[in-house]
Amino acid sequence: MAHITYIEANGTRTQVDVPDGWSLMQAATTHGIEGILGECGGSCACATCHCYVDDLLASVLPAPSATELDMLANVAAERRPNSRLACQLKAGAAFEGGTLTLPETQE
Ligand code: FES
Repeated sequence: MAHITYIEANGTRTQVDVPDGWSLMQAATTHGIEGILGECGGSCACATCHCYVDDLLASVLPAPSATELDMLANVAAERRPNSRLACQLKAGAAFEGGTLTLPETQE
């Protein structure tokens, strides 16, 4: 379990308890957080779960896979050095206290 804070583009902050093994996309859509669509259901094929990770998450996340990098080339909003796809980020204790900022658009 990890407490993750999602910050929507309008500034709304929501903290979610994310069970171990859940993706941060799955947790966001389950809790009705605006700004993550997850249209492909988490198979890394749509890039509508684009997010910006904070320094804490960046320090514990594995590097993106080749598939995630390919999809990050297709995000609708600005791609930044801390851009990731939330469906590829599987929660665990190391994520505790992490924050995801969501882009203004996913499509
Ligand atoms: S949900 Fe489709 S790429 Fe993440």
